[in-house]
Amino acid sequence: MPSKILRDFVNLESKNVLLGVTGGIAAYKSPELVRLLRGEKASVQVVTTASAKQFVTNTTLQSVSGRPVRDNLWDSSAEAAMGHIELARWADLILIAPATANLLSDLATGRAGSLLTTLCLASEAPIVIAPAMNRVMWEHLATQENIKKLKKRGTIILGPDDGEQACGEIGPGRMREPEAILSDLKILGSPKTGAGPQKLEGKKVVITAGPTREPIDPVRYISNHSSGKQGYELATAAKDLGANVILISGPANLPAPIGVKLINVITAQEMCAEVEKQLHDCDVFIGVAAVADYRPSTVSPKKIKKDATRNKSEISLTLEENPDIIAYVAKSAHRPLTIGFAAETDSAEENALKKLKEKKLDAIIVNDVTANGVGFDSDENAATLIWTEGKTHYEKQSKASLSITIMRKIEKLFFSETALSATKQKMG
Ligand SMILES: Cc1cc2nc3c(=O)[nH]c(=O)nc-3n(C[C@H](O)[C@H](O)[C@H](O)COP(=O)(O)O)c2cc1C
Repeated sequence: MPSKILRDFVNLESKNVLLGVTGGIAAYKSPELVRLLRGEKASVQVVTTASAKQFVTNTTLQSVSGRPVRDNLWDSSAEAAMGHIELARWADLILIAPATANLLSDLATGRAGSLLTTLCLASEAPIVIAPAMNRVMWEHLATQENIKKLKKRGTIILGPDDGEQACGEIGPGRMREPEAILSDLKILGSPKTGAGPQKLEGKKVVITAGPTREPIDPVRYISNHSSGKQGYELATAAKDLGANVILISGPANLPAPIGVKLINVITAQEMCAEVEKQLHDCDVFIGVAAVADYRPSTVSPKKIKKDATRNKSEISLTLEENPDIIAYVAKSAHRPLTIGFAAETDSAEENALKKLKEKKLDAIIVNDVTANGVGFDSDENAATLIWTEGKTHYEKQSKASLSITIMRKIEKLFFSETALSATKQKMG
């Protein structure tokens, strides 16, 4: 686990960035990344793998970084200048861009067969990775399992982006552009920048995430496509801004965010009961979960057999309404600041505004789940934050950086000195 943490990065000036470059086509973008990092006054030490040199030369990387590139664990002259352990200690951040499928696998299994992987194991610096590979390689279960393992250990994954690939395929696997990587780093690394003291410090933030499952019988259920990613990222962002975060999650195949208390539930009723328990001292509630509006009225104790429905071309399920969790929170005696989330397929803002008013919410985050490459199960999202007096749109970006931006905005809107004194005035 890194002991130096990314949010200590107020900015990149005078930070030591160890940039790992591995053997993917996107390595041609690495010199531009070095240039941008140096433009922020960071010191950049490039470490390449043997394959990386097939795509970009050490000469180019050395010229833009102003330092000899390190590429060999067994280079005695380089070791004499700064040994690999010293280099591992020197780094404030290890950024690997592009990161190949091979590197992800090496890191996930803790291999130390090259200088770069050895440094990753020997360093306490946070590791940020920008994968780049063919769509099929990215979607391969092995790669996805490696990503899951790495995330669980606190490794930050940026992208990959969706789009046209060098191999001619279209889909996820493109490395994030150097400018986007820099902007992600700034957002992830400096939640304190410009925010002054963290207004969420010590506040209790309760977030619901993921889908709910409403059982029909012991083997079947009604659910939806929510992956939980956005809610989990918002929980991480709130925690990074100093809040005590409780994440109440329906079935999501995601690791618990570090430093967040995770409560797992299955059904809407269970989620509602857990939310209820947290309300008495809750400061902010954000309902991101895609809660099923209805559940089957009766749950068969045994699997419903096809025999029982034979000769019927149709069967019916009777559904009854589930509790409206967000409306319940907004009406509760200990009403916290209540923020909803709306995943819409049409007239997104119009519908969200209606929900904001009808449910008497303080704000609502809306995204159009039909837009290309955003929303359900994607690592990226675009969203609009609407509150009673205004709205701000956020363009497509990683769910992690979108979450930090939204949480900072919420902090500014509702917890800044100006916001708090305006509320006091309103209350007389
Ligand atoms: C032309 C070419 C392009 C490649 N592009 C990628 C890529 O974009 N991403 C990837 O994961 N592997 C790519 N590979 C495969 C890697 O180079 C290979 O797995 C290598 O062992 C990675 O080594 P490294 O992780 O030590 O750099 C490519 C191979 C070739 C021949």
